[in-house]
Amino acid sequence: MKENKFEFSYKVYSGIEELPEDQQWLLNEAREVTEQAYAPYSHFQVGAVARLANGEIVAGSNQENASFPVGLCAERVLLASVASLFPKVPVETIAISYKGDGHKSDHPISPCGICRQSLQEFESRVGHPIQLILGGMTGPVYIIDSASRLLPLAFTSEELKTS
Ligand code: THU
Repeated sequence: MKENKFEFSYKVYSGIEELPEDQQWLLNEAREVTEQAYAPYSHFQVGAVARLANGEIVAGSNQENASFPVGLCAERVLLASVASLFPKVPVETIAISYKGDGHKSDHPISPCGICRQSLQEFESRVGHPIQLILGGMTGPVYIIDSASRLLPLAFTSEELKTS
């Protein structure tokens, strides 16, 4: 028997003002994009904004539905838009923020499990890590160098290859 260990490190900034200017800008965009969310059921609005390798900026927000499982998270709305508008262009960075009625927005949230799976496959299909900037409307900010770090032992397309 042997024991394997998974660990990863990420940066914690005490506030947006500590970030380099380009990262501050992207996080502020994500904060603004929360306004585009359609979240009449959860009242939890999420904004995600990507900077692509070609300099383009693409935004996504969560889009809910009266049939609840139909709803999509901001991250997957964003990735689908990027892949449709700019096929094969790597995503350098995604900033994610949120707000909502009765919710404090004073700490980072990180992508849900389904979105982690989507982010992992996006990285591997384009062959480029996606840096994440996670922050609320106020409070600390996390920087994660590669979204895949959030999904250890991921199920990947490798498993579906036949020999
Ligand atoms: N949501 C996101 O958009 N991204 C996440 O990472 C977590 C959750 C959305 C889904 C749903 O519309 C609302 O937030 C409450 O779960």
